[in-house]
Order: sequence, then C-alpha cells, then structure tokens
Amino acid sequence: MTFKQKYGNTALVAGASEGMGAAYAHALAERGLNLVLIARRKEPLEATAEALNAKYGVKVQTVPCDLSSPDALQQIETAIGDKQIDFLVYNAALSYIGPYLATELTTHQNIASVNMLSPMALVYYFGGKMVERGKGGVVLMSSIAGLQGAGFLATYAATKAFNKVFAEGLWYEWKNRGVDIIACCAGATATPNYINTNPGKASPLEPKAQQPEQVVEECLRKLGKKPSFISGRGNRLVTFLMQHLFSRKQATNMMGDGMRKMYRIKD
Ligand SMILES: NC(=O)c1ccc[n+]([C@@H]2O[C@H](COP(=O)([O-])OP(=O)(O)OC[C@H]3O[C@@H](n4cnc5c(N)ncnc54)[C@H](OP(=O)(O)O)[C@@H]3O)[C@@H](O)[C@H]2O)c1
Repeated sequence: MTFKQKYGNTALVAGASEGMGAAYAHALAERGLNLVLIARRKEPLEATAEALNAKYGVKVQTVPCDLSSPDALQQIETAIGDKQIDFLVYNAALSYIGPYLATELTTHQNIASVNMLSPMALVYYFGGKMVERGKGGVVLMSSIAGLQGAGFLATYAATKAFNKVFAEGLWYEWKNRGVDIIACCAGATATPNYINTNPGKASPLEPKAQQPEQVVEECLRKLGKKPSFISGRGNRLVTFLMQHLFSRKQATNMMGDGMRKMYRIKD
C-alpha cells in the first residue's frame, strides 16, 4: 500500500514555508498528496507553494495565519471550507532563549499558544474527523530539549515535552482506530530559524546538526510504528547517556550549562 493509499489525498502542514515545515511539504507532495500550507508571512509561503506545484504537480492552498491567535483554528476552517484533511503536520513553534524573567510574561504565553494550544485545537478538530473516518496520520514536532529541564529555554522545552507526552497518549487511544500519530523529537537541525539563533558549540560530544530532509524522512518511516522517536543516531546516543549515565539533576545541570555556553549567556 502506498503512503497516499494509507493516509489519504490531502495534508495540512502548520508552519510550512521554510526549514522543517517546507521539508515535510516536499516529502508529502512527493508522495502525491495535495497540500494546505500555513505560515504567517504570505510571500515565502506562496513561493514554497509555487515550487511544490511546479515540481510535483499537486494542488497547494496557502493560508496565511498566525498560530498564536486564539481563533487560529476558525481562521483555517473558514479558509479551507469543507476540504477534507487526511494528514496533519504541526511543525510551527515559537521559542525564546534567555533567562525566564528577562522577557515579558506575554512572550511565554505566546510560546504556549503556538506550541501547545494550537496543536491541541488542530489535532482535536482534524484528528477527530480522521478518527470518525477511521483513517489518517498526524505528526507533532517535539525536541530532545523537552526530555529534561532546559535552563534558558525553560518554556520552549516544557512545551516540547507536552507535544511528546500528548502524542504518546493519543497514539494509545487511536492505535486501533486507523489513525497514526507520532511525536518527532528532533535535535539540532539546520533550518533558517536554528541558524539565525547563531548557536556556538555546547560540548565537543554534541552531534552535528541534521538536515531537515533527514529528520522528515525518518519521521515518515517511523510513523505508525512508534508513539514517539528521537531523530538521528547521534541524538539517540546523547539522549541515552543523559538518561542512563547521569542523574536527572546532573542531566539538567549539563543542559543548562550547555545552553549558557552555546548562547554566551551571562545572568
Ligand atoms: N531547528 C531545530 O534545531 C529544531 C530542533 C528540535 C526541534 N525542532 C522543532 O522543529 C519544528 C521546526 O522548527 P524550526 O524552528 O526549525 O522551524 P522551521 O521548520 O524552519 O519553520 C517554521 C515555520 O513555521 C512558521 N511559523 C512560525 N511561527 C508561526 C506562527 N506563529 N504562526 C504560523 N506559522 C508560524 C514559519 O513561517 P512564518 O515565520 O512566516 O510564520 C515557518 O514556515 C519546531 O516545532 C521546533 O520546535 C527544531
């Protein structure tokens, strides 16, 4: 059975114009799925849509929308009408690097909206319809930063922990309902967003950043086989050591020290 036969004809990618989101859109278009693509900025979104249409001949609808707004789901519903969504990727995320108290509370609340409340709403609505039909697939982007506390990235890391645990719970509920769901715990990945944070090296053992396409292909291979996974051998090894060789306290200290070094933070 092909990917398209298994999951259906149309995928929605939330956070789709560049980096990992664009890589998901390419991978799904290559498998023959039509697309609905969401991001805030109209121009890069339309450029991605045109490139996909030209390369794969699939239909692509763009929906400019800020996923931090409380009515993001309603905006998307209005834009797509009764179009059936068979596959959902929630890729968009907001992050803030620095001491928790050095920014406004609203920054943290926006991170919670983009990274937790909107995925919850989109999964409820589109995932709910998939369960009714007994067919579909959902990918939620998580991060290895969410596997323990991360000083100077506290809110973002906690939202990534939410996505992992959320997907795992729904995986159990939906495993016999025809809908596959997976949390993809990525490590450093060379997307424009990540490169723009200008990261230094946290430790000599730090794995090399992966390419977005590597993460996406591994995720689509593992979908349906696991509730969550860590992308890339290097990230799996580092995670194994952090979880089995060190105490939770040591791992949390190492993570905070690594962040301080990587982002040259003086607090
Ligand atoms: N890159 C890494 O190293 C890394 C590591 C671990 C996990 N992850 C996870 O992987 C995912 C992708 O991360 P990334 O930073 O590398 O991003 P990305 O895939 O390069 O792209 C982010 C996409 O989301 C859109 N977006 C961002 N905020 C949005 C909002 N409020 N509303 C609608 N669209 C929005 C952006 O377009 P606009 O700016 O035009 O809105 C862009 O298309 C995230 O879930 C992240 O937590 C990334």
